[in-house]
Order: sequence, then structure tokens, then C-alpha cells
Amino acid sequence: MHIDIKTGCRLREETSDCLVAGFHEGAVLSGALKELDEALEHPIREAIALGDFKGQAGQFLLLTARGRLKSKRLLVIGLGPRKEWKLQSFRNAIGRVESKLEAYSIPQASIWVESLMGPLAPGDAVAAAAESAHLAAYRFDKYSPDDRFKPAPKKLTLLFVKKHPLERLKDGIGRGSAIGQAVNEARNLISEPSSYLTPERLAQYARGVARAQGMKAEVWDFATLRRKGFRTLAAVGQGSKNPPCFIMLEYCPARLKREAPIVVVGKGITFDSGGISIKPAEGMEKMKYDMSGAAAVLGTLSACAQLSVPQRVVGLIPTAENMPGGASYKPGDVIKTFSGKTVEVNNTDAEGRLILADALAYAKGYKPRFVVDLATLTGACSIVIGPLGMLAMGNDEGLVKKIQASGERTGERVWPLPLWDEYLDFMKSDIAALKNAGGREAASITGGIFLKQFVDYPWVHLDIASTAWLEKPTAVMKKGARGVGIRLLVDLISHLEVR
Ligand code: BES
Ligand code: MN
Ligand code: ZN
Repeated sequence: MHIDIKTGCRLREETSDCLVAGFHEGAVLSGALKELDEALEHPIREAIALGDFKGQAGQFLLLTARGRLKSKRLLVIGLGPRKEWKLQSFRNAIGRVESKLEAYSIPQASIWVESLMGPLAPGDAVAAAAESAHLAAYRFDKYSPDDRFKPAPKKLTLLFVKKHPLERLKDGIGRGSAIGQAVNEARNLISEPSSYLTPERLAQYARGVARAQGMKAEVWDFATLRRKGFRTLAAVGQGSKNPPCFIMLEYCPARLKREAPIVVVGKGITFDSGGISIKPAEGMEKMKYDMSGAAAVLGTLSACAQLSVPQRVVGLIPTAENMPGGASYKPGDVIKTFSGKTVEVNNTDAEGRLILADALAYAKGYKPRFVVDLATLTGACSIVIGPLGMLAMGNDEGLVKKIQASGERTGERVWPLPLWDEYLDFMKSDIAALKNAGGREAASITGGIFLKQFVDYPWVHLDIASTAWLEKPTAVMKKGARGVGIRLLVDLISHLEVR
């Protein structure tokens, strides 16, 4: 989708397929919108008077201009009460505009940004608009019949009545578009069936991202990671015909080569059948999205590079397919992790923490400033918090707070759970240092406490199991892969002090 900007506009003179303006619930019709209404002979005033249109979020009026404006149509979009305006209401409004354009097959629109943006600075408003527009236009149609989706609009023009210097606004569009596109690429990866997106394909894709952005990439194949002592990653992957591997990426602006990096780690299970502790058939097809953490890591590095963020960032992705078979790892197996700690496997379906254990222990070698891991780790995550947020657990309260602040800014909300030492009792094994599954009680936390045994640096674990896949569409996103975590991490990394 193409997005451009115009400032110092006269709305009546704007030629477009559809002019778009926002209207707050309970507001009085005034200013430029009132002028448009007058030009059209008062359809908005009348709809308000009849009670057909109140300006509630989700309501809209699509009016034909009948030659009375230079544009063919006017779309008035409800914004909810003015005093409840939030950045998220703006994002949602852009998402809803996009779905209306799609529903009515309108290929282009000119959006009067000032009528929607509340108190936002214009640069931030166009960034949010561009990001949301890209996210809303996304569909995974690679395998769909041609008539499944109506085409998304091809072009959006962001209009300002006031004059603004274009430089800032163009930067904002660049930023929003880069992030939106990185998220959409992650959504493509996540949506791919696991027969296509094997660990090796994921590695190939990562190499491609690195090449495109001038980043370093290294991949250890099955033989190498066994030689290096990544025994838990090897164990989880050994039952599949598609061998596991370990992917490392590094984005580093030249002058930061000696800085301690930020390390992001993503769970890359390309399919989670549960292994020998096999999952029920119902819903198992969803387990192709068990690599959403890995997709978030790739998207984050790619966006950081594209935006030239002044930080050194390392991405680590342990990736495997968790399958039952004659060569699979089994309940009762004891594995010595990369860290040297032994783990008794009491459930092969608790595979995510096993592959992360090796990656987190390995991360120590980077002497990281801090580490964040993202993983679709536990089904219990959905029970605890549902699709509205991700769970954070860690050993550094300040870092959790920073991540939460990024969550509030980006709309990718994060909420903390405790990692009290006593939870480690749930993971006691009779024969090894730890077992890998702690049972039903506090299941998301026991996943976190397991991971904590493998870190000795500031660290936060994000359980994204409840947010990775949307079962119901939101105002901005269709159902399916969400590409969660990228906006959050790019915001976090962009807000860090430069050392
Ligand atoms: N990938 C799953 C978690 C998951 C479930 C993500 C549903 C998204 C939706 C993970 O590997 C898993 O199977 N976890 C187990 C852990 C248990 C055996 C301790 C779970 O949550 O049931
Ligand atoms: Mn599992
Ligand atoms: Zn899993």
C-alpha cells in the first residue's frame, strides 16, 4: 500500500475516491466537518438529529458527494466520546476506515488526520496511521481462492488542514510503515503451514533478512548444535524428519561493536504435536504458530536495522519440530543442558522451555545488557490473561516496568506475574536437577521459573501464547497470526538510552 501526505489542504477541493473524517460521540457538528456537511446539504446533521449516527466507535456514515465535493464520497467515522480518546482509539479508527474501504471496494482514500488524532503530535499521528493501515490491509491469501478477500485499498493520503513541515511527517510515515511491514512479514511466517516452514526454511529466511539488512547471521545445523552441547534443543528436534537448528542474528551499528548487546530470544517450534506426550487432535493445527516468538525476533531485528536504531541487538532462535516417532525424546529421559544442569523430561509437550534453556544459557556468552525472550510457552497464559495481553516474568523489576511502558505506548500490553523461589519446588525431580513440567497449578509461572534457572543477567520472559493468534478480529487486525511482540520490542529498544 502506498501512503502519502498533504498539508495545508482544503477538504472540499481534495480529489479522492473517498474523503474520511472522524466525529466524536455527542460532539456538535462544527468547523471543517460542518462545512463539508453544508456542501452536501446536511446529511450528517440530519443523521445525528434522527439518531442514526451518534459517533460511537464502530459507527460510520458513507455519503455520496454527488458532485458537491471534489471527492466522490465522504466517510464519517465514529470515534466514541472525546474525553475517552486514546491512542488506541486512533489506531482503531484507522483500522475501521480500512475495513470500510475494503467492504465497499474503494481503492483510494484521503484521510483528514486532524479530525481523528486527538492531542497527538502530527509526526506520531502519521506513524500510528501508517502502522495501523499496513496491519489492517494484511491478509494471508497465498493459498486462498481469488474471491475470498476483497482487495485492500491501494493508496491512502493523509491530509492536514494546517501547514506542517513535511520532513517530520515523512519520517513518521517511514517509521510506521517499516514497523507495520515487519509485523506483516512475521504474520506471513507464522501463517505458513509447518510442512513449508520447517526449521531449515526458517533459517534460510533469517539469512535472507540478514542479507537484505546488512546484518550478521549464523546458523548451526543439527550436527553442529549437538557438537556445541545444545542437547535439549537436539532432543526436542530429534524425532522429526526436519532437523532442528540454531539461528543467530546480529544488528550492530559500526560504532557500537564493543557495547554489551540487547539479546532477544524467540521460541521457534515450527510445529508442536506435543511429541510422545501427544496433544489432543482438536486444535492441533494451530500449533504451527508455536514459532511466533521466533518470528517476533526476526521482525524486531529487521525493523531495528531498517530504522537504524542506535543499539546493538542480537537475536537468538532455537528452532525445531516437536514430533512423536521412533527417534523422539521420551518421558523419563534425562538431558544435560548447555548450562550443565540436568533435566528430567516428564512431559515432551513442555518442549519450549527446553529449547529456550540452551539458548538462554548460551546468551550469557554475549555479556548482554539484558535479555528478553518471547515464547508461546503455556496454554495457561490464555486462561490467565486472554487475548488482551502477554505475561511478563523476570528477575529485574525495572526492566519489566520499561517493557510495560512500551506495552502501553504500542498497545501490545504486558502484565507481570511473580517468580517466587518456592515455585521451584514444583519442578523438583527425583533424579535430575529439574523436571520440565510442573503440572496444572501456576503453569505459566512454573514455565518461567524453569527458564530462570538458565539465566544470570537481567532478563524478562514474555509468554505470548494468548496473543500470538487472534481467534476473533479486532478493529485493526483480521483473525489469524498477529505478529505480536515486534512493536513492543522496537519501542523498548528505541527508548533505551544510547551508551
Ligand atoms: N506450545 C504450547 C503452548 C501453547 C498452547 C501455545 C496453546 C499456544 C496455544 C507448549 O509447548 C505446551 O504444550 N505447553 C504445555 C506445558 C505443560 C505440558 C507443562 C501446556 O501449556 O499445556
Ligand atoms: Mn508443547
Ligand atoms: Zn510449544
